[in-house]
Amino acid sequence: MTRLELNTQDRFADITDPDVYVSGVPHATFKRLRDEDPVSWWDEHDGRGFWAVTRYHDILHVSHSPHLFSSARGIRLEDMAPDELKARTTMMELDPPKHTAYRRMVNPAFTPRQVATYEPVIRQMARAVIDDLHGVSEFDFVERIARQLPMRMLGSMLALPEADLPWLVRNGDALIGNADPEFTNYPVDKVDTSDYRLLPFRSPVSLELFAYAEKLAAERKANPGTDVISMLLQPKRDGEPLSDHEFKNFFTLLVAAGNDTTRYTMAAGMHALIEHPDQLALLQREPQHISTAVEEILRWGTVTMHFRRTATQDTELGGRRIRAGDKVVIWFISGDYDERQFPDPYRFDVLRKPNEHLAFGLQSPHKCLGEHLARAEIRILLEELLPRIVSIELAGPIERLRSNFISGIKHLPVRVSWRSL
Ligand code: HEM
Repeated sequence: MTRLELNTQDRFADITDPDVYVSGVPHATFKRLRDEDPVSWWDEHDGRGFWAVTRYHDILHVSHSPHLFSSARGIRLEDMAPDELKARTTMMELDPPKHTAYRRMVNPAFTPRQVATYEPVIRQMARAVIDDLHGVSEFDFVERIARQLPMRMLGSMLALPEADLPWLVRNGDALIGNADPEFTNYPVDKVDTSDYRLLPFRSPVSLELFAYAEKLAAERKANPGTDVISMLLQPKRDGEPLSDHEFKNFFTLLVAAGNDTTRYTMAAGMHALIEHPDQLALLQREPQHISTAVEEILRWGTVTMHFRRTATQDTELGGRRIRAGDKVVIWFISGDYDERQFPDPYRFDVLRKPNEHLAFGLQSPHKCLGEHLARAEIRILLEELLPRIVSIELAGPIERLRSNFISGIKHLPVRVSWRSL
C-alpha cells in the first residue's frame, strides 16, 4: 500500500456515531466536510447540536482563542449540567488565567529536561518488554508491547507498586473506552449512566480510582518522595497545592490520558509500518529518521480525534455565524489530513517535514502536557524494537475501539521473525 485509499461510500458517515469508528475513521466524510462545508452544523439525538470544525487553520483559530472559545463548559460532546461540570472539572475544563496557574503547578514533571531524565528508565522498560517476547512469534502487539510501556512508565513516574498497574490501566481503559463493551459494563450510550453523572467519564470505575487516589495522597503526604504525586501535594511557596478533590480528578486524568493515547499511537504506528514495508525498511536502514517518523505516526494516528469548546460571544468562523453558547467541536483527526496544510496527506511518509500536526493540540493553552513523554516513549520503543525485527506481518484482523473520541486499535495481532542480537 502506498497511500490510504478513501472509501467513497463513507462520504456521509455520522461522525458522532461510535459504531462508525469500529471500521475505521470516516476519512471520506471529513474530506467532504473540509471541501464543501468546513464549519458544518450537526444535530444531536440527545444534545443541542454542534458546529464541526474540520479545516486545519480554523481548528488553530479556535484552539488559540480561549477568550472566544471556552473549555469551561466542557470539552467533550456531551452536555453537562453545572453540578456535573463542577464535580468533574480537571485542568482541561479551565480557561486562562485559572488554567495557567494550574498548569504551572504540574508542568515541572513534564518539561523536556525532566523527560530526558526518564529516558534511561524508558529504554530499560522497552528492552524488558521486548525481551519478554523471547521465543514468541505470534502475539497481540497492543497487549504485549503498546499497553505495557506507557503503563510501566506512568507507574514509575508516580512511584506506584507494580502489582497495582494492570488494575489501574484496566480502569483507565474503562474510562477512555467508556462506549466500548469490551472495556466497560456501562457503555455510555447503551445503558443508563445517570447515577454516575457526577463522575469522570460518567463511569462508576472513577469511584475506585478516587478511593485509590485518596489512599495514595494520604501516604505521600505522610512520607513525601521525589515522585510526581509527592510534588503535586507539597505546599507551594507561591500558591496552594492541589486540593484533595483536584488531586483525585488530576490523578484520574493522568491514568486515562497518559496511557491509552500513547498505547494507541504506538499501535497506529506499528500498523502503518506493517502496511508500508518500504517505510519500515527505511527506518531499519536509517534509524536516524526515527524522530521524524514519530511525528508522522502521531499525525497518522491522531488518536484524540476531537475536543469541544463553547463560544463565549457571537463570532464568525469559516464564513459561519456562531452564536454565544454554541458548541464548537474541533476535529484534530480531520485537520491532520487537511490537504491545505499537508501535501498528499493520505501518504504515510516517515520523512515528512514540516509536520506541524494537531495530535497534541497546537497553539493552545491546553496543548498536551505529556507530549514530550509520549514522544520519548514512542521513539525509544522504535529504536529498541526495529533492529530486533527481521520481518513483521499481520496475523489476523485488527480490532478498533468503539469510540467517537479516541481512535484506537485495541488488538493488533502480529507475526514476527526476531533477529537475535
Ligand atoms: C501520544 C500520546 C498522547 C496524545 C495523542 C495526547 C493528546 C492530547 C491532546 C489532543 C490534548 C488536548 C490538547 C488541546 O486541547 O489543545 C492533551 C492534553 C493533555 N494531555 Fe495528552 N496526549 C498524549 C499523551 C499524554 C501523556 C503521556 C500524558 C501524561 C502522562 C498526557 C496528559 C495530558 C494532560 C494532563 C492534558 C491536559 C492539558 C491541559 O489541559 O493543559 N497526555 N493530550
